[in-house]
Amino acid sequence: MRRFSSYGPVDKKNHFTVPRKALVKACMESLIGDPEEGGHYFTIWAPRQTGKTWLMQQVIREMESLCRDRYIIAKMSCQGIIIEPDMPEDTFLGKIPRLMLDGFDMDVDAPETWEEWLLFFHKRKGLFQKPLILFIDEFDSLPPGVIDRIVTLFRDVYLNRHDFHIHGLALIGVRAVLGVESDRGSPFNIQRSLHVPNFTLEEVTELFRQYESESEQIIEAEVVRQVFETTLGQPGLVGWFGELLTETYNPGAPNPIDLPVWEDVYEAACFREWNNTILNLIKKARGPYVRYVLDLFEKPDIPFSIHAEWCNYLYLNGIIGEEIQADRTGRKRYVCRFSSPFVQTCLFHALTHDLVGERFPILVIEPLDTLDEVFDKPELEVVVVAIGWG
Ligand SMILES: Nc1ncnc2c1ncn2[C@@H]1O[C@H](COP(=O)(O)OP(=O)(O)OP(=O)(O)O)[C@@H](O)[C@H]1O
Ligand SMILES: [Mg+2]
Repeated sequence: MRRFSSYGPVDKKNHFTVPRKALVKACMESLIGDPEEGGHYFTIWAPRQTGKTWLMQQVIREMESLCRDRYIIAKMSCQGIIIEPDMPEDTFLGKIPRLMLDGFDMDVDAPETWEEWLLFFHKRKGLFQKPLILFIDEFDSLPPGVIDRIVTLFRDVYLNRHDFHIHGLALIGVRAVLGVESDRGSPFNIQRSLHVPNFTLEEVTELFRQYESESEQIIEAEVVRQVFETTLGQPGLVGWFGELLTETYNPGAPNPIDLPVWEDVYEAACFREWNNTILNLIKKARGPYVRYVLDLFEKPDIPFSIHAEWCNYLYLNGIIGEEIQADRTGRKRYVCRFSSPFVQTCLFHALTHDLVGERFPILVIEPLDTLDEVFDKPELEVVVVAIGWG
């Protein structure tokens, strides 16, 4: 039987998988663009553990079956390329043999200059006879100076694309707007950049339906809805709740996976079980913009803007999202929200532990408390209110 998976790209032979056909198709069409003139150079971006690498692998698989005769389709990953910020940018040139080996199964010597590397892709002087469709995963794990050099290089290729064999290029990472920092401009069409969205409720339901049909164990619709509403469909977290519900905390068939099981799982997810995505978010939230994160617990109307450095950072790292809201005058504007109720709860507990007594008194009401015990009574439960506000 297949399983849920919560880390690394899933494969449909071993894991429950949503096909996301429209996303795969959009990515393929962008890369191919105009088959004669060339495809697009763009970024595939989303916070960690949202399915970027899975999408890349899926697109490669489809393209290999549809247009392998026409294009060379290759992927490289910058994961594991260690270049410290104080090392010279040219250190990257020494890593090129490994990238070429991984991507093209080609054994080449390290180029001595950036221009020499560029010539690998030149139509007349280069190593390839066919146009390339190239994916570079984990691109933004490189230091900014190296990113800037490579983006500038691709810009030259793009401007002289009739001389080069790079037909389509997708750079994959957390940041959307690569090269914007570069004084020389970017070859990447930002409007075309492809964002990997969270799962919809239908997609989450589809995953659990696959589980039900293979395990023959019932999983109540309300549990599936809770998974969706708690995570807002964040793919890695959905996979993780899937593992907790169907493996770690599964009461075992013929018992159904019902709301009491969900409640145990939720409590464990908040306080007991490790999760890489959450650990990473907590680390980022404790970073340079912790003050803004703390403000978000107190103020519901902080304006959202991708042009504000702190907001951009928290957004691209999956800590916050945005919501449109009308103010008192009826004017609509974007305000910041945590990326999901689960992320909000985890950050709340992590940051209050850090700060007890230092910055704010612990909030009297937890951020997601609906105060049912107070309002679900015919009369206002003053004692509960008084104890709660102690
Ligand atoms: N199509 C899918 N069907 C089911 N689960 C998926 C799918 N895509 C992503 N996931 C979930 O997201 C997790 C992460 O996928 P993947 O490694 O592709 O993400 P990523 O964005 O490349 O992550 P990172 O930023 O860490 O490189 C998977 O382990 C799985 O739980
Ligand atoms: Mg990845």
